[in-house]
Amino acid sequence: MKLIITPHNLGLWAASYIVKKFLAAPAYPFTLGLPTGSTVEEMYAALCSLAQHKKINFEQIHTFNMDEYVGLSAKHPQSYAYYMHQHLFDPIDMSQENIHLLDGLTTDVQKTCQQYEEAITQQGGIDLFLGGVGRNGHLAFNEPGSTLDSRTRMISLTDSTRQANARFFNHDPAQVPSHALTVGIGTILEAKELLFLASGPAKASAVARLAQGDITAQWPITALHAHHHAMLLIDSPAAAELPQALQADWQRHNRRQPDQDFYIDL
Ligand code: GLP
Repeated sequence: MKLIITPHNLGLWAASYIVKKFLAAPAYPFTLGLPTGSTVEEMYAALCSLAQHKKINFEQIHTFNMDEYVGLSAKHPQSYAYYMHQHLFDPIDMSQENIHLLDGLTTDVQKTCQQYEEAITQQGGIDLFLGGVGRNGHLAFNEPGSTLDSRTRMISLTDSTRQANARFFNHDPAQVPSHALTVGIGTILEAKELLFLASGPAKASAVARLAQGDITAQWPITALHAHHHAMLLIDSPAAAELPQALQADWQRHNRRQPDQDFYIDL
């Protein structure tokens, strides 16, 4: 996998990568796995702007979101369905039948999760899975302990995640739903390509753990090592806890080419 430290805006970097993928796609439809979160807001803003200026279009794009809170309806402002409509689907007038979201109000969790996996398979798999990273290294809502073969399921959210996401729930972790539906690590790893984003100092320890090289269920981010075409794009603050040898290489690179991305093979 590749770790990329960029001096540029993460959201614009990711949006331009997505555009390149759309344009180079050997066949349509093209299927995206999509995240929510603050880190990817600028990416969605850039995609909306490109679509509104007719530089790209989403007619042949299908999407599968990675997670949803249990107990929140799509109309709840903190549901991920609401986020997606606000940040991408409504501004670009995305066709409803191309959108796939996990239903946080399902009364049959097992069936909903199984049908989600089947829908991904019927679609021919996910071409590019985009994602963020939790402070505790979670991918989607795969909390520590999630294994490489995990599939779409319901999961209990850790205290750490509920604290991190309390900013969206009146700063009260108790108001953050205790459970979520999430695609599994195994579901993510089956995508043809992965592009995950992490920004800011709160993600630095998860990034540092990834750089150690081994895979451990205690740090789901390390599952990225198990994919043949995975990238983690980070900014400088998220790189702050990388091992000294990598930091030294990165500083050397910065002295020579401060405007260029720094690629590390992990
Ligand atoms: C939530 C989501 C994750 C996301 C994470 C990071 O926990 N379930 O999919 O990666 O937040 O979010 P942020 O970008 O706001 O730090």
